[in-house]
Amino acid sequence: MMVPVKLGQIEFKSKLLLAPMAGICNIPFRLLMEDLGAGGTVSELVSCHGINHGNKRTLDMLKIHPMEQVVGLQLFGEDVDAMARAAEVAESFNPGWLDINMGCPVNKVVTKGGGSALMKEMEKLGPLFEGMRAKMKTPLSIKIRTGWDQDHRNAREVMKIARESGIEWVAIHGRTRTQQYTGLADWNFIEEIAAEKILPLIGNGDLHHPILVNERLKKTQTDALMIARGALRNPFIFLESLDSEYAHKKKSDFLGADYWEVIERLWSYVAETFEDERMLLVQARKLIVWFAAGFPHSAAFRGQVFSAQTAQDTFKITEDYFLSLGSSQKSINYDEAFMSSGHG
Ligand SMILES: Cc1cc2nc3c(=O)[nH]c(=O)nc-3n(C[C@H](O)[C@H](O)[C@H](O)COP(=O)(O)O)c2cc1C
Repeated sequence: MMVPVKLGQIEFKSKLLLAPMAGICNIPFRLLMEDLGAGGTVSELVSCHGINHGNKRTLDMLKIHPMEQVVGLQLFGEDVDAMARAAEVAESFNPGWLDINMGCPVNKVVTKGGGSALMKEMEKLGPLFEGMRAKMKTPLSIKIRTGWDQDHRNAREVMKIARESGIEWVAIHGRTRTQQYTGLADWNFIEEIAAEKILPLIGNGDLHHPILVNERLKKTQTDALMIARGALRNPFIFLESLDSEYAHKKKSDFLGADYWEVIERLWSYVAETFEDERMLLVQARKLIVWFAAGFPHSAAFRGQVFSAQTAQDTFKITEDYFLSLGSSQKSINYDEAFMSSGHG
């Protein structure tokens, strides 16, 4: 059941939110996930410098669809003035809130001082948060990691500075920067900080299966949870995680035909957002192939999708595949690494 939860000034439709993902959390995917039970969504990371240079591709990333209900825009950068100026521009696109990326482990971002490198520069944080706040009307949140490395897990200290500098809530991916995507998210650490109630906290990391999410929801001290990779292979993860019967059933009610319905909807959202056929294919194809993961013959299907030349052929091949699945259950091997790199 979807029970709304308020973090700072924002009311989310439920405690289960879609986490930001570069190249994925654009309008079509965010709309689709809201339709399928996400309590709120966040854009992919957007460069403050790209915004300030008026780069068209960057500005397009700030667009929000009128049908989106609870959505934030995430900015990345390292410089107070640049971030504050970009925040003003981003706000003109009417997001519910803005978020600062403080978790990206990618070298290109970190070497310039952005993403998770911000967690190493504690003295810069107060001025950064306050400088942005001074230019903004909407709430400001941050998304962090537990720390830079195992010996410097300073999430708690970062949250205290955030609390003093007008940040409304914090989302935390339970790994250090050095871990990147290896090992496991440290939920003991997340729960310890959550119990201290420094600021509202959203927990994130490795919630890849509805049963795991459901168990975490029952015992967590955090205020909400964020799911990233889990939604890529199972677009029904929000609905299933909120269904208290799911844990007893232990299997999904959603079959190939349901996935096809979701893909038709995704396709129309993608076609509306990206008018160019090549972009339509790039955006739709990857999600279609992830949605197929775990169904019979998905590897052969993947090959067919990537060799199809036109949008029309891709659509037909996809329809035939998903409708041919009948009552076959999807079976995902969660022990296999999946998408072990990203920007947060
Ligand atoms: C492909 C990909 C792209 C990502 N891009 C972003 C991003 O733009 N901003 C961000 O804060 N986190 C980003 N992340 C991190 C996720 O939001 C999340 O913190 C991380 O994947 C752990 O959650 P999960 O185990 O549910 O996937 C990305 C992750 C992936 C896999």
